[in-house]
Amino acid sequence: MLRLAFGFAVLGALLLFEPARAAPLSPQAQAGRAAMQAAQCNRCHAISDPTGGDRGLPPADREQHCVDCHTWILGTKGDEAAKARMRAQFPDWDRYLDSIQHFVRLPDLGSLTRRIRPDFVRGFLDRPFDLRPHLDERMIPVRLSAAEKDAVVAYLAELAGADVKAAPAPGPTPSPAQVAEGRERFLALGCPTCHLTGTTALRPGLDAAYWQAMRPVAALAPDLALVRRRIDRATLVRFVQDPQAVDPHTAMPKQAVGPQDAERLADFLLHAELGERPRPAAQDFPVLARKVTWDEVFDEVLGKICVHCHMHPDSNNGDGGAGNTGGLGFAGLGLNLETYDGVREGLLRDGKRVSVIAPPAPGEAPLLYQALARRHTEFAAGGVASDAKRLGMPLGLPPLSGAQMRLVRTWLAQGAPGPK
Ligand code: HEC
Ligand code: HEC
Ligand code: HEC
Ligand code: HEC
Repeated sequence: MLRLAFGFAVLGALLLFEPARAAPLSPQAQAGRAAMQAAQCNRCHAISDPTGGDRGLPPADREQHCVDCHTWILGTKGDEAAKARMRAQFPDWDRYLDSIQHFVRLPDLGSLTRRIRPDFVRGFLDRPFDLRPHLDERMIPVRLSAAEKDAVVAYLAELAGADVKAAPAPGPTPSPAQVAEGRERFLALGCPTCHLTGTTALRPGLDAAYWQAMRPVAALAPDLALVRRRIDRATLVRFVQDPQAVDPHTAMPKQAVGPQDAERLADFLLHAELGERPRPAAQDFPVLARKVTWDEVFDEVLGKICVHCHMHPDSNNGDGGAGNTGGLGFAGLGLNLETYDGVREGLLRDGKRVSVIAPPAPGEAPLLYQALARRHTEFAAGGVASDAKRLGMPLGLPPLSGAQMRLVRTWLAQGAPGPK
């Protein structure tokens, strides 16, 4: 009797503490966590433990953290006293406030697989593509082995408590009337104020200025035509009713969606003909009929966009960025784009210096231009294979504009002259 009572007490204690004490990570998940740390995923993403434990990956220090540093700077925007303090230390503070647009909001990966199917995440690591139409930034190629990517998915699934092996139930096939009703509810509930749905323009006339103004709440809103590849039906039905109950870190606000609404919304999102958002076509960028100076190329392109990953190591405590001294899972190619001398020194390949401004062979474009043109090709193809040998630039950002492409091309064609 005494033993039994004791047994119940222990059981009761276990039940009481169960939610806080999530299972320890398996060896494979631990390997995935280590791979994410080595690839510095925590310089962009939060990877928080949804059970409040310590199985997540702590963020990188702010001096390294793309999002934390940018939001820290932008956080002084409305605060005159803070700005005055910062200006005393950093005279260009006001310019920083104007220029920082990207890597400000990114999804938390810690509870992602409570919503997103692990098999989708695995495919995404092999070939990242655009999920969020209002977010300029893109996920970068993941330079990890297949076994390491498997381990990353195992880690994210264990962290979130998701079942990697469970096959999602396909659910009922709705009637055309149910799909049409889902569409009506989708409109009536205001979903298109934040979400695009493939080529199906449900609320025509929303322009770039509208989406710019909506960025604080809609930047992370995915294209919902992708839902059928990302979320299984049962999870979707729960998620649209109470997003935070499914994924405590999600940025989707709770809407007034009842169980009947949720079923019809799922009918619509999983079964309507939604099409694929059109991709930009690859184009050619003819040379300009005027002289282009180094200063222009630096101010409009290299200094504005590229230096953040191709710095002179001396200007950043020895860290020349992912494309120079390495980081974000890349070994680095020794390419410094912060000074003219750096650009002339080119990059390191197989231990040898290779020019990025001279044509590698007659009739071929210099490597600098090739990398910029490749980014346009990657966007036209709708993504990039993580194991691609040569990557388009700027990494993680949209391709350069036509005006910027023509500037660089013309400068290179004129022999890449240096500063006066
Ligand atoms: C330089 C910043 C950066 C780094 C470093 C980075 N990511 Fe991302 N990641 C992004 C951006 C931006 C997105 C959003 C892309 C979109 O929505 O189209 C993203 C999206 C994702 C997604 C998809 C989330 C979803 O909603 O389905 C996964 C999974 C992911 N990243 C995993 C990783 C892993 C694993 C690493 C480390 C190996 C990593 N990321 C490193 C920028 C980064
Ligand atoms: C220590 C703070 C800090 C960190 C860490 C940091 N940045 Fe920045 N970033 C800045 C500042 C300051 C600017 C504005 C610079 C200027 O105006 O000259 C900037 C601007 C940028 C820009 C150009 C403006 C824009 O938004 O398009 C890009 C791109 C960028 N950063 C990418 C990154 C990436 C990628 C990382 C992580 C690998 C990163 N940054 C980490 C401080 C930081
Ligand atoms: C105020 C803006 C806003 C509105 C309105 C809104 N959403 Fe969202 N929604 C978001 C954001 C932001 C996310 C991204 C969540 C994340 O990545 O954590 C999201 C995510 C989602 C997802 C997950 C998609 C995926 O691929 O990960 C679904 C499904 C969804 N919303 C459905 C809806 C439906 C249905 C409605 C209307 C009832 C709606 N949303 C209204 C902002 C909004
Ligand atoms: C978010 C970081 C990041 C940004 C921003 C970035 N780069 Fe890179 N860059 C890299 C990394 C990392 C590599 C090395 C890739 C590899 O190892 O395959 C690289 C490689 C390169 C290469 C060599 C490509 C090859 O393999 O032939 C060139 C040229 C280049 N970058 C130019 C640029 C230019 C020009 C810009 C601005 C328009 C830019 N990069 C912006 C990270 C970045």
